[in-house]
Amino acid sequence: MINKMRAERREQVEKIERLKRRKNAIILAHNYQRPEVQDIAEFVGDSLELARKAVATTAEIIIFCGVDFMAETAAVLNPEKKVVLPDKGAVCPMAQQLPPAVLAAAKREHPDAAVVLYVNTLAESKALADCICTSANAQEIVRAVAKAKDASTILFGPDRNLAYHAQKATAAKIIPVPEYGLCPSHHQIVLQDLERAKAEHPRAKVVVHPECIPEVQDRTDFIASTSGMVKICRQQQAGEEVEGSAVAGDEFLIGTEVGLLHRLEKEAPGKRFYPLSATAVCPQMKMHTLEKIEAALESEEPVVVVERGVAEKARRAIERMLEILG
Ligand code: 13P
Ligand code: SF4
Repeated sequence: MINKMRAERREQVEKIERLKRRKNAIILAHNYQRPEVQDIAEFVGDSLELARKAVATTAEIIIFCGVDFMAETAAVLNPEKKVVLPDKGAVCPMAQQLPPAVLAAAKREHPDAAVVLYVNTLAESKALADCICTSANAQEIVRAVAKAKDASTILFGPDRNLAYHAQKATAAKIIPVPEYGLCPSHHQIVLQDLERAKAEHPRAKVVVHPECIPEVQDRTDFIASTSGMVKICRQQQAGEEVEGSAVAGDEFLIGTEVGLLHRLEKEAPGKRFYPLSATAVCPQMKMHTLEKIEAALESEEPVVVVERGVAEKARRAIERMLEILG
């Protein structure tokens, strides 16, 4: 029975590989994707890396295994390429929390404020921003935008927890828009989880994503994007210094969506990783399956389309981020 299932899986993977070659397509996958999806992707990474890969590739079709705002970002940056989201139900609930009308109202209320939006937003909202940021660079971007625009106030949305992290890097006042934007998956991780995990694994270093609540951010050893978290754990494996401090220990408490564990275990073998909360699961990220990827490659659908006027304005805000990062 198991052998039959393995043979079927092998056949399916081979079919996907053949389709990719025939159609000049690549698969880009986010760090939270199912293990079998990560394993067939040309590249697995965080939001910023995926946006950069989408620009760099010469493939004509990008099968994007992530959520809607990531695929939209790839489409906005690559109007000439076909971006396909295998399951169009993969919609990030956080991005939905900041409709353009809410942002427009906040801008009217604070006409002198600069506007920095997390990439986890709708394209229509991005079109109203001065600059986009990702979890990998929120602090660098708010610092740069405050300086460039000589702004004493920054509207920042939709994640109030990333806003808390960004606030530490600038003297400008960061106003979260909306007031209570958050990621439902990261909100599964509460302080008691951290305290329990630390008691169980006292030698372990804590590495969390900035979408975690402030109480967790304040008690961690490292805060980084999903790929940044992998890098920190790998560097530790190589015995290198991480951000100036030598880290002892080979165990990590991981504060993010559990999908990251697959990459961590693959890329840092021999290390031990414990999720702070096993319930920190993003159902939308798990929607893409090998079956749906195969169907998407066959049909080249569903294609991600961003209306041209919106795309042009959103592109400016995303490119501003890329310019600042250099
Ligand atoms: P990263 O860019 O760090 O991968 O974060 C994306 C995300 O949606 C985290 O929930
Ligand atoms: Fe959105 Fe949270 Fe899922 Fe990331 S983990 S895609 S922020 S719902």
